[in-house]
Amino acid sequence: MLEKQKEFIRLVREKNINKNLKYSILTMGCQLNENDSEKIAGMLEEMGYNVIDDYKNADLIIFNTCCVRENAEERLFGKIGEIKKLKENKNIILAIGGCMMQEKNMLDKIKSSYQFVDIIFGTHTIQNLPENIYKTLEKNQKVKDVIDIDGEIYEGLPIKRNSKFKASVTIMYGCDNFCSYCIVPYVRGRERSRKPEKIIEEIVQLSKEGYKEITLLGQNVNSYKGNDKIKNFADLLNEVCKIDGIERVNFISPHPKDFTDDVIDAIKNNKKISRIIHLPLQAGNTKVLKEMNRKYTKEQYLNLASKMYDRIPGLVLSTDIIVGFPGETDEEFEDTLDVVRKINFEQIFMFIYSKRDGTVAAKRNDQVPEKIKHERFDKLKKLYESKVDENNQKYIGTVQKILIEGNSKYNNNNFEGRTSTNKVVIVSQNNKIKIGDVIQVKITENHKWYLKGEVL
Ligand code: 5AD
Ligand code: SF4
Repeated sequence: MLEKQKEFIRLVREKNINKNLKYSILTMGCQLNENDSEKIAGMLEEMGYNVIDDYKNADLIIFNTCCVRENAEERLFGKIGEIKKLKENKNIILAIGGCMMQEKNMLDKIKSSYQFVDIIFGTHTIQNLPENIYKTLEKNQKVKDVIDIDGEIYEGLPIKRNSKFKASVTIMYGCDNFCSYCIVPYVRGRERSRKPEKIIEEIVQLSKEGYKEITLLGQNVNSYKGNDKIKNFADLLNEVCKIDGIERVNFISPHPKDFTDDVIDAIKNNKKISRIIHLPLQAGNTKVLKEMNRKYTKEQYLNLASKMYDRIPGLVLSTDIIVGFPGETDEEFEDTLDVVRKINFEQIFMFIYSKRDGTVAAKRNDQVPEKIKHERFDKLKKLYESKVDENNQKYIGTVQKILIEGNSKYNNNNFEGRTSTNKVVIVSQNNKIKIGDVIQVKITENHKWYLKGEVL
C-alpha cells in the first residue's frame, strides 16, 4: 500500500480517537465490488471506524455502486435522498464510489444535483480513501477523485473479510472484450493481471488464518496473464490447488472463447476445484452472439460444454443469459431455449437486456419492446424452473462433501452448507460439527431450492 495513504490512515485515526465512530458500506453488484468493499472496510477499521449494520446510525456511509444494469440507479438516488435528511441532523460523511462514478453522465448528475455528497471516488482510486476522508474531516472539503486511465494494481491494502472460511481473491482487473451490451470495459478499464506470487502469497496467508474456500475473481479469469513460472490461468489453478488447508477453489467468470484444454485439464486433475463451472452463454443464437461480440457460435458453445461434461466427471454448469438483446427475434430467442434444453444448467442467472449509454448495442434503433423482453424472461424462467427438480433428483442417495457455512436460513435448528456444485444442503445440528467444518453428508431429500442430508 502507498506509504502516503498509511500516513493519512494514522492522521484520521488520531482525529477519531475516543469518538466511537461507526461506518456502513452499501455494496451493489458483483463479487468484485464485494471484494473492493472488503478492502474499503479494512481501511476504515484501521482509521478507527467500527462497522454498524443500520446505515441510519452511521457516521460515515459509503455506497459502492454498480452500473451493469439500469435498475440500480433509481435505488441509489432514493438512498442518497434518505441520507440528505439524516445529514440535516447529524454530521455524516457520505462517500459514493465504484462503477457508476466512472460514467460521465452519472458523475455530472451527482455533482450538480447532490452537492451534499462529500466524497466521490471511482474504480481506480479506492486506495486514496484515507486521504479523501482526511480532507473532508480536516478541511470540510468536497472531494472528487475519479480518473479515467487504467488504474495501477495496489497490493497490501488492509482488508476486512465478510466470512471466516470463504474468501474472494481478485486475480485480475478490467476487461478487454467489449461485448456490445456491456459497460464494464468502459468503467473498469483494460485487463490487468495481478502478479502470481502476490496471489499465491495472499492465499497461503488465508489458509494459515483458517480459510477453506477461495474464489478467484476477474471479469475474464481465463485470460489471466502471469509470468515465466506461472504463465496462465491453468498454471495458476494448479498452483492454488497445491496450497495446504484450502479445500475448495472456485473462479468467476471465465469466457467460453478462452476456455482452453489446459484449463479443462486443471479442473479435471484438481479435486479441490468446484464441480460447478460458470460458463456465461448470454444468448443461444449465432447471429445474436456475433452482434454481442461474444466470439463463439451456438455450436462452439455446445461443443465446449459437451467436451467439459465428457472430460470432467460430475461436472455441472451454471450460466448468465440476457433476453431481448436489440434485434433479437422470437426465432433467435428459441435458440437460447434450445441450448437451455440441451445443457442441463444447474443455475441460470437471467437478465433482461438493459441499454447502457456508451455501448455499441445502445446505439441500435431496433431495441426490443419491454413487453416482449418480459415475456421472453418469463418463458426462460419457466423452462429453467421446470428442470430444477429433475436436476436435484440426481443428488438423492449420493454422498457429498459440504462446507458448513452457518445456521440455515430455512430452519434455524439446522446448519447450512454447500456441495462442490454450489447446492445448498441443510443438516441437523449436532455437537460433533461446527461452522467451518468440511463434512461428508448423504443427501436424503429434495426441497427444490435446497437439499436435506444426514451427516456421516
Ligand atoms: N443488460 C443486461 N444484462 C447485462 N449483463 C451485462 N451487461 C448487461 C446489460 N447491458 C449481464 C451479463 C453478464 C452479467 C454479469 O450481467 O449476462 O454476464
Ligand atoms: Fe462485460 Fe463481456 Fe467483459 Fe464480461 S466479458 S465484463 S460481459 S465485456
